[in-house]
Amino acid sequence: SGSAHISELPMEILIRLFRYLGPEDLCRCGQVCTAWWGLVKTGSLWRHLYPVRWARGDFYSGPPGYLDQEPDEEWVKNLQDEGRAYQEWDEDADVDESVRNPNHTADNPAINTVQREKRLLNGMIQNLLPAVGPSVRTIVLAYSSAVSSKMVRQILSLCPNLTHLDLTQTDVTDSAFDSWASLGVCSSLEHLDLSGCEKITDHTLKRLSLGLGDLTSPLSSRNSPEWRTKLLMGPPPPLKLEVGPALLAGGRSRQAMIFKRRPGVRGSSCSPAHVFVFDLEEPADIEDVAEWSRHGGIPVPDTSTAGVLEVQTAGGSSCCCRRGRRQGLSTGSGSAAYWQQRYLSFGEAQCGHSACCGGETALRTFKGAEFDLQATGGSAHLRTKLLPEGQSPNNRTEHSGTFRSLRFLSLSGCYHVTDMGLRSLSQRGGLPRVEHLNLSGCPFVSEVGLQELVSVCPALNDEHFYYCDNINGPHADTASGCQNLQCGFRVCCRSGE
Ligand code: FES
Repeated sequence: SGSAHISELPMEILIRLFRYLGPEDLCRCGQVCTAWWGLVKTGSLWRHLYPVRWARGDFYSGPPGYLDQEPDEEWVKNLQDEGRAYQEWDEDADVDESVRNPNHTADNPAINTVQREKRLLNGMIQNLLPAVGPSVRTIVLAYSSAVSSKMVRQILSLCPNLTHLDLTQTDVTDSAFDSWASLGVCSSLEHLDLSGCEKITDHTLKRLSLGLGDLTSPLSSRNSPEWRTKLLMGPPPPLKLEVGPALLAGGRSRQAMIFKRRPGVRGSSCSPAHVFVFDLEEPADIEDVAEWSRHGGIPVPDTSTAGVLEVQTAGGSSCCCRRGRRQGLSTGSGSAAYWQQRYLSFGEAQCGHSACCGGETALRTFKGAEFDLQATGGSAHLRTKLLPEGQSPNNRTEHSGTFRSLRFLSLSGCYHVTDMGLRSLSQRGGLPRVEHLNLSGCPFVSEVGLQELVSVCPALNDEHFYYCDNINGPHADTASGCQNLQCGFRVCCRSGE
């Protein structure tokens, strides 16, 4: 009935609103206040990244489906012209440092655009990906002249759960894929486009094959995203995951995932500890919740909202952390005043740090208002589920337990690739899901190497199988020929004909 200030909206509502915004507007929202900056760094808002397009004013941020078709020629030509202009300017600047004076580029929109792209990439790597990297599924850097191998290496280290990576026509080298040298680090990858990456050699294919996991290994279950994140991101936050019964109102119980803070050494006097519980039948976005937990969450002023999280503090116990870091605790609302009020009303609140709170606080999920807060011992955080619009828990992408899930691989124009690289891909279980395989412009592979690889690609669609016309390889009658003859700017052994 009454009106509410936007800062009083539950975080779930704010995130729903944020989902309607593009990356540019999200960044503007992040500048409003600290709480919104924390909210903007929610992983589910940054699933699909297109920095090359964003730097040119196209702020699409949906799944990559519509990009599957070839980009239009004019778009590609413009990007190539910009890249050439930038390269010339950069080489001149190496000789004469005064060329780097911004006044020298002010009149050249092509150079300015590439510089903007470079700033955007650096900003993403330094400020955004450290927070949302594990949630990122798509990165498209096709035709980027600003991206370097070092940038790609950083991006891949920060985004261990990528499913779609497009580096078409970039200048990357093998060193960009260093992080893939560990088993199972890119096992979610479904789409890899390295078309026109002329510096790529067999080393990258060896790393890729290792990173995709090993179907023949008894340790293949360790290719799960959780394991990869553990390998790449270092020690996880001090949370312990349990599956067990959660009490619902009326004494009913339900299986739930329970994230529990590990008991700390210090602060054992802090009681109870914090516990998050998620209903397995309608799971929340685990990555989001982990982030909220790390960042202290965003306040939720009204428990009457179905499925909303509420905090109750254990009566009167003093948190050792709170004295110095009051902000560290917030689970909820938009304003500091709101939380100060809550602190005052409930006495002391818990910081949630494992080092200073004992492990007695409990986290639990629940459905709407039916959860019995008393079951938590008076201290519970309850969160609504956060699935994308129109997505049910049952139709989200399955990642757990999947590996060597590559469906699309293009090495078109990677002319250093040889049979050795193809053999690497053939090992550890091959590429059982690959449907699209483009080896156009790879004249140093042979019939034998192709045959070996194709024999472990049972899902390969001949229509989407491309290789040099001069090789009498597998499926010669049904496979498509080399694509690069028509391309004009990608390596092909017949381009001079
Ligand atoms: Fe031989 Fe294109 S690489 S036909």
